[in-house]
Amino acid sequence: MIEIRALRAKDTRTSFRSGDADIDRVFQQFAGQNQFRHHLGVTYVAADGRDILGCATVAAAQVEIDELPLVVRRKLARYPLPVLRLARLAVDQSAQGQGLGLRLLRFVLQLALQMADDYGCVGVVVDAKPNAEVFYAKYGFVAVEAVEGRSDARPAPTPMFLSIRAIRDAIGNPPRKKR
Ligand SMILES: CC(C)(COP(=O)(O)OP(=O)(O)OC[C@H]1O[C@@H](n2cnc3c(N)ncnc32)[C@H](O)[C@@H]1OP(=O)(O)O)[C@@H](O)C(=O)NCCC(=O)NCCS
Repeated sequence: MIEIRALRAKDTRTSFRSGDADIDRVFQQFAGQNQFRHHLGVTYVAADGRDILGCATVAAAQVEIDELPLVVRRKLARYPLPVLRLARLAVDQSAQGQGLGLRLLRFVLQLALQMADDYGCVGVVVDAKPNAEVFYAKYGFVAVEAVEGRSDARPAPTPMFLSIRAIRDAIGNPPRKKR
């Protein structure tokens, strides 16, 4: 059974191949230290026993209001806004096309809802690789202006945004009751 859980230090990452060499290299070489030593972000993995079949790296981030789509901007204050950044999402080639990418994405959207309830979050920003833009657009992400701390990968990824409201509508979670 495939479970989605946070990366553990003893997980073996060396055999992971998504077909995107850049993502694979960062996952293999840096995901561990970024999470356990530097606390830059957390990688969640789709694990089938010892096999890592997918990964999604998230980090708290912020956007300037001018970087958001017009329709979202109108209701928000003009200071930096908290978002959850999906820095990388990938599925091992052996498991692609079986719904795992979508499962990981939904997991990340749930994390954003939790972040919104616990300490504030206006949505999810993803640095979409050119070949994955359609994947994210399918779930409602829209292209936005450059976001602070964006990737230096080439070809340049497109920052895309999905609002908390859209996530709630998509996942069907009512706002948490006041405590
Ligand atoms: C993009 C990626 C994460 C998708 O994972 P996956 O497990 O193969 O995707 P799923 O099986 O969950 O697909 C869900 C839906 O998205 C579609 N889809 C998958 N990859 C897509 C892509 N690159 N572009 C457009 N649509 C895509 C599927 O056809 C499926 O649609 P359906 O439900 O209508 O059949 C995976 O192909 C991957 O790791 N690619 C290489 C790394 C990469 O480009 N990552 C994104 C960078 S941010």
